[in-house]
Amino acid sequence: MTKTSRMPGFYNLPIDERIRLVKEFSDLSEEEASLLKKTGRLTLDIADKMIENVIGTFELPFAVATNFLINNKDYLVPMVIEEPSVVAAASNAAKWTRDGGGIRSIASEQLMIAQVQVIKLGSPYIAATKILERKKELLDLANSTNEFLVKIGGGAKDIETRVIDTPLGKMLIVHLIVDVKDAMGANIANTMAEAIAPLIEDITGGKVLLRIISNLADKRIVRAWTKVPPTSIGGEEVVDRIIYAWAFAASDPYRAATHNKGIMNGIVAVALATGQDTRAIEAGAHAYACKDGRYKPLTIWQKDENGYLDGYIELPLAVGTVGGSIRSNPMARLALKILGVSTAKELAEVMAAVGLAQNLAALKALSTEGIQKGHMKLHARQLALAAGASPSEVDKVVELMLKEGVFTLEKAKEALSRVRST
Ligand code: MEV
Repeated sequence: MTKTSRMPGFYNLPIDERIRLVKEFSDLSEEEASLLKKTGRLTLDIADKMIENVIGTFELPFAVATNFLINNKDYLVPMVIEEPSVVAAASNAAKWTRDGGGIRSIASEQLMIAQVQVIKLGSPYIAATKILERKKELLDLANSTNEFLVKIGGGAKDIETRVIDTPLGKMLIVHLIVDVKDAMGANIANTMAEAIAPLIEDITGGKVLLRIISNLADKRIVRAWTKVPPTSIGGEEVVDRIIYAWAFAASDPYRAATHNKGIMNGIVAVALATGQDTRAIEAGAHAYACKDGRYKPLTIWQKDENGYLDGYIELPLAVGTVGGSIRSNPMARLALKILGVSTAKELAEVMAAVGLAQNLAALKALSTEGIQKGHMKLHARQLALAAGASPSEVDKVVELMLKEGVFTLEKAKEALSRVRST
């Protein structure tokens, strides 16, 4: 029998039947297949309502980073991530920032941009003028799709027009600016963009094609900064090293990509824990890193006149504390409760602060002892667990592996059998 992943009607099958098909297709053991059904607090019923073709759920470690003082408020920050060291590093850096008063963070209004692409126009410039003349009518129409949002002070607030050059000639792009309040806002803004499209066609005589949010959410910016006393971070020499490390990223996109990846380690971990659209956040951050025409780091590190280390981060963060996936995911709701944030603005402020701290930890480690030492310890823990060590055996196995400096599963197994034989 030939094997095919083409399975029409798969989405209509009961979950057990989907699992049976996948088991057959991928030659899973009974045990592997039953793992698919093993769920934590996100039940299969709920998961099945979230996306299509559900056959299981996927669990990751859920942790909290400690020590965060942001805008004079203490936070335990939930993080979901597979990578060792990230949570520990964020907690450490948060600790260093506390001595200088913690991290200040401020998010702008929660404005999303929805784009409407208009083609087949005589003059896109004249079409743009006509759109601006009828702005109020267009905004009213957009707002008619969401009375609740308007009632709480949000809704479509403005319209901007851009004429862009494309390989197919000039096009008119209409930007609908929507205050989405505590929602991530993609659905809200997309609905509005679709609603105004026919009127845009009437006004311009052109043809509307795409109606979709922009993930370059540059009207939804968060800025966070911190001032770290040199004594809290290992002295003046370490401050200088961190600034040299930043200067490298500021001048080299190869380094800047990794620098920003480290920032996103923290931000995405919080995003995952709190049920956000992590891809939207990543897309926005990296596009924003290019806003000057060259890929740059999202942070700036400098020394002030007293030798303190000043850190600053600026990026767009489209996040929400209300909305479908958060409501349906009990772990995301729990994460928001642990974090103690009630607005999207506050969540964004915390996430930017975490990104800044994460970057500080990485730059300090990289410019001093390197990251591998701490990393290997945590890696050894994972290997010990994978080798079958029980929680009470893990530390002893790790100790043996660190002593010998070999980090393989074989070595972990060998160390475990030695631990058991003593
Ligand atoms: C690893 O996940 C993240 C780092 O590479 C970030 C950086 O290099 O700045 C350590």
